[in-house]
Amino acid sequence: MAAIFQSLGRTVAAGIVLLLVFIVLAGLGTQQWIAVDTHGWWTFFFRWLHVLSGVMWIGLLWYFNFVQTPSMPKIPDEQKPAISKVIAPEALFWFRWAAMATLVTGLILATMYGYLGKALSLQKGYHAIGLGMWLAIVMWFNVWFVIWPNQKKALGIVQVDADAKAKAARTAMLTSRFNTMFSIPMLYCMVAQQNSGL
Ligand code: HEM
Repeated sequence: MAAIFQSLGRTVAAGIVLLLVFIVLAGLGTQQWIAVDTHGWWTFFFRWLHVLSGVMWIGLLWYFNFVQTPSMPKIPDEQKPAISKVIAPEALFWFRWAAMATLVTGLILATMYGYLGKALSLQKGYHAIGLGMWLAIVMWFNVWFVIWPNQKKALGIVQVDADAKAKAARTAMLTSRFNTMFSIPMLYCMVAQQNSGL
């Protein structure tokens, strides 16, 4: 067991194997097997991928806002590089690519449901998911075109003078807070579509 948990790759692989075991056991127990040759199953599969990537994205957004940013002033200056040089760049890698995966799987999902255009134009019956999608698209834009470029300056990945660095750190922090605010109605709208709208 310890050999599995000492490696992140093996831990993730073990999660997938465990899922397959549950699927086989449920199939054997109920004699009802998943039908991978149906459109319904593939939409479900993309829903799962979408929620997985969304959890990674919003989990890291909330980690930044609830844990890392409020803790920074309590960390002695000589220890701050552990965050700014090691943890934050790694977290930002998973953060921005999870945002991309969530956007792509979400757009695929809406296309598979056949309501992408209706949702984005906020038509009746699709206004909940449409609003959720627009909120999440603005958040995705902020991640890739505001937070990440400014974090590169703030973390020293792109070299700028001290004034520009401080300004970039503030812009990244305020935009991240904005996304945290948006995440609350966004997630409500996202799940509301299943529940007859807003
Ligand atoms: C980035 C743009 C996004 C797009 C285009 C998008 C699109 C969609 C679509 C089309 C659905 C199916 C809704 C339905 O008919 O019930 C959905 C559901 C969902 N989305 Fe998103 N989404 C996005 C971002 C997010 C984010 C950031 C999260 C955060 C976790 C998220 C979490 C969910 C959840 C939990 C569901 C409901 C799953 C269920 O009820 O089974 N989405 N999304």
